[in-house]
Amino acid sequence: MLTKINETATFLAGKMQYLPKVGIILGTGLGELATQITERQEIPYQDIPNFPVSTVEGHSGKLIIGKLGTTQVLAMQGRFHYYEGYSMKEVTFPVRVMKALGVETLLVSNAAGGMNPDFEIGDLMIISDHINTFPEHPLRGKNEPSLGTRFPDMSQAYPASLRDMAKAIAAKHGIKVVEGVYVGTSGPTFETPAEYYYFRTIGGDAVGMSTVPEVIVAVHAGIRVFAMSIITDLGVAGKVVEVSHEEVQQIANQAQPKMTLIMKELIAKL
Ligand code: HPA
Repeated sequence: MLTKINETATFLAGKMQYLPKVGIILGTGLGELATQITERQEIPYQDIPNFPVSTVEGHSGKLIIGKLGTTQVLAMQGRFHYYEGYSMKEVTFPVRVMKALGVETLLVSNAAGGMNPDFEIGDLMIISDHINTFPEHPLRGKNEPSLGTRFPDMSQAYPASLRDMAKAIAAKHGIKVVEGVYVGTSGPTFETPAEYYYFRTIGGDAVGMSTVPEVIVAVHAGIRVFAMSIITDLGVAGKVVEVSHEEVQQIANQAQPKMTLIMKELIAKL
């Protein structure tokens, strides 16, 4: 794996004038931030050595490198989901490459189903913690000490310092944000009412099919993480309604200007 990471990082570094400080993984319908990257270069995943290729509708699959404000960023438009059939090593490979390129902070977004009864559709949730229910762990197998420690501490996976900065930015703009625990699950089914109830009972505020593997690998690598969910549907007792991928994308699109603003201003402060 080390050879592959270095090969990919070397390929990408060869295309960059400056190395990125901030990595961004843009989730469902959240591509707007990517359009604001200046001095940009786009590299389709299929042109990047060792990169898996994204397949799902609505995930276009390219790396965008350039600047947001004065900060050098590397953004993934389209991520690799476990439910697509990728292994956890593949799902998290881009985060390894980000680390090799010198990324210090990773910003992640996703769409998620809300289970906290105080949440409303369209809310932005700052992720304060997560619960990993994926059936495969991205760090399973021999640990490579140069990438990180065998038993990584996860007590501050989502540092309060970044969350506080985001909350202050949201308050300044009058943007409502909520905060909570994200349950990562494999999908691709949305939850049954009993599963939403179960995930709520074990301590979750929202549930989705991504983010947790990438965050685990980022924390292992010593990258600090900030992550946000758009609550696109509700799995609250008595309020569970039918969900479709199209509705999830539509709600995510409506909420994205607010998330874009928060992420952009946060990047300026990093
Ligand atoms: N469950 C899982 N993943 C999701 C959901 C959900 O309700 N909404 C958006 N992604």
